[in-house]
Amino acid sequence: MAARRTGVKGSCSRPDAAKGGEMRALIAGNWKMHGTGQALEEVRKVADAAAAIDCDLLLCPPATLLHRAVEASGGRLPIGAQDCHWERSGAFTGDISAEMLVDAGARAVIVGHSERRLYHAESDQQVEAKARAAQAVGLVTIICVGESEAERAAGQEMAVVGRQLSGSIPEGSSAQTCVVAYEPVWAIGSGRTPTREEILAMHGFIRTSLGRRLGGAGQAMRILYGGSVKPANAAQILGLPDVAGALVGGASLKADEFLAIARAAGQEINHGKPTLR
Ligand code: 13P
Repeated sequence: MAARRTGVKGSCSRPDAAKGGEMRALIAGNWKMHGTGQALEEVRKVADAAAAIDCDLLLCPPATLLHRAVEASGGRLPIGAQDCHWERSGAFTGDISAEMLVDAGARAVIVGHSERRLYHAESDQQVEAKARAAQAVGLVTIICVGESEAERAAGQEMAVVGRQLSGSIPEGSSAQTCVVAYEPVWAIGSGRTPTREEILAMHGFIRTSLGRRLGGAGQAMRILYGGSVKPANAAQILGLPDVAGALVGGASLKADEFLAIARAAGQEINHGKPTLR
């Protein structure tokens, strides 16, 4: 079980990582509602290249592809899901429990993505319950936070993200069970990214909040950036202090683009040995 749990975490060696903690980059791909069986070829390509890449990788295809993606990965690439329910089972038509994801071979799950918060009206409380259910069955949780454009324009970005952090991350979360992804809503799928200073300020704020709330566990947790990460901007973003990887949407659909981002992460962040396999 320990090996399963540690599938998407690693020993990072980022010099500015939290005191005493080493943090290995994670590049996670969120396919959202994209992909049928043909897309499994992309999973195979990423899996084939994974051994030569110096960072942790994760692909999160839609639930219909989950099990087939696990098979296609041949054990060389962890596969994750995009959402789960907070209950173990029950009368929840169309929903999937964390235990079912584990049964399908998932090692991680994204919860609280802004598209879930927006289109499915998910509250912080629900996101926290989902994360708790997922952690209870050994899934690594990628918990997403991020402000809208209007919230940033109003100078509310820290207040919004602070609220999401305290409401969505379960008590007892650790660097082994939890990764935080900062995804400003206005940067998702838009081709726009925050400035260097904006990313630095927000990641610093998240690090401080996590540390205050969770102590050493919060200090050691990986904070990913997400929103229009592409091969062309990956090195610049991933080179920033306290950016321990990326949650990639559109550019994760093509193995070549995803791998180019992962290679940039390996160069910019890691100096350690791969620990995934
Ligand atoms: P894009 O990389 O397509 O902007 O999407 C980011 C995202 O929402 C990942 O979860």
